[in-house]
Amino acid sequence: MNSLSLIATALCCVVVVFGGLPFSSNAQLSPDFYAKTCPQLQSIVFQILEKVSKTDSRMPASIIRLHFHDCFVQGCDASVLLNKTSTIASEQDAGPNINSLRRLDVINQIKTEVEKVCPNKVSCADILTLAAGVSSVLSGGPGWIVPLGRRDSLTANQSLANRNLPGPSSSLDQLKSSFAAQGLNTVDLVALSGAHTLGRARCLFILDRLYDFDNTGKPDPTLDPTYLKQLQKQCPQNGPGNNVVNFDPTTPDKFDKNYYNNLQGKKGLLQSDQELFSTPGADTISIVNNFGNNQNVFFQNFINSMIKMGNIGVLTGKKGEIRKQCNFVNKKSSELDLASVTSESMEGDMVSSI
Ligand code: HEM
Ligand SMILES: *[C@@H]1O[C@H](CO)[C@@H](O)[C@H](O)[C@H]1NC(C)=O
Ligand SMILES: *[C@@H]1O[C@H](CO)[C@@H](O)[C@H](O)[C@H]1NC(C)=O
Repeated sequence: MNSLSLIATALCCVVVVFGGLPFSSNAQLSPDFYAKTCPQLQSIVFQILEKVSKTDSRMPASIIRLHFHDCFVQGCDASVLLNKTSTIASEQDAGPNINSLRRLDVINQIKTEVEKVCPNKVSCADILTLAAGVSSVLSGGPGWIVPLGRRDSLTANQSLANRNLPGPSSSLDQLKSSFAAQGLNTVDLVALSGAHTLGRARCLFILDRLYDFDNTGKPDPTLDPTYLKQLQKQCPQNGPGNNVVNFDPTTPDKFDKNYYNNLQGKKGLLQSDQELFSTPGADTISIVNNFGNNQNVFFQNFINSMIKMGNIGVLTGKKGEIRKQCNFVNKKSSELDLASVTSESMEGDMVSSI
């Protein structure tokens, strides 16, 4: 076997190995994907989000989380935006999302404006990804150039949402494996968790930490006693658990490195947050310290990991579709999608007829 065919064999195996993984990164995304077809896109996204953020300071948090919950379930394909229909079990009704997702209406508002200016060109998945980046900027966080060219899914997967989205009582090992399943490493886990410098969580996710941790009848020992008292006041033991508390008690709507300083001071809100710093001997402790000491280092890593997360399982080329309304698949294409099962050869006609 000569060296060329060896290389060919090696390449072939790489393709086979990575082809089977859900997160094979996609080189087809490009920041200027809409440069010709929708040059106004970025400014429409920015203007609408800026306006909404003036009346809802929690909006940036909610949009960033929406993007995360999209990407961890069959990739960043706007599957989370699909509403329940007779054929679709919505991801919005999955455990980690129900009564929890906010501001899907803002994504629809952006889509409506975008459709007026550049009809049928821009995917909901790209709008959500761009909106997450703009939300970082609007809350004082870093900005970055967002790779674009995602297309929208024809399906949602509620059971996958239940399986893939990490829970607030996760151990560090569980968090790591949930991220690893998406091709994200330990640094990505720590950097992306820094988004919990923004937004709120409902009391029900921390009641066990406040009153009966691991069936001990006592609070979580990794909670600072003063912070514990504050949280107990906001989250009464037998309350319904629907009160909301800030992730960051000092600058709740500002994107800064406080999240890591909070962990250093045993003021992580969720157990899954504090695990990053309080798990004995964990390799995440030094990363928390590093980000806690230098906001620029955190921001640079956050950018890197957000771009990585934004590349998970994207649909490109002729896969999926450009939805007209983000909450529903295009009728025509779902009919045509059924037809394509029986007739591959019609694909060209179908795409051009959309
Ligand atoms: C590491 C595992 C993670 C867990 C266990 C987790 C869990 C949670 C929970 C339980 C809430 C509160 C939901 C509610 O009260 O209804 C929440 C909120 C939030 N999460 Fe996470 N999360 C994780 C990672 C992430 C990541 C990677 C991001 C984004 C990059 C993110 C962004 C947010 C934001 C911004 C909020 C506040 C949303 C709002 O106020 O509307 N989270 N998370
Ligand atoms: C989609 O469902 C959400 C609730 O999850 C609802 O608020 C919204 O109005 C629905 N959108 C449409 C277009 O029906
Ligand atoms: C959801 O994803 C799982 C795992 O990939 C798969 O087995 C299942 O068929 C999917 N369900 C739907 C409704 O697509």
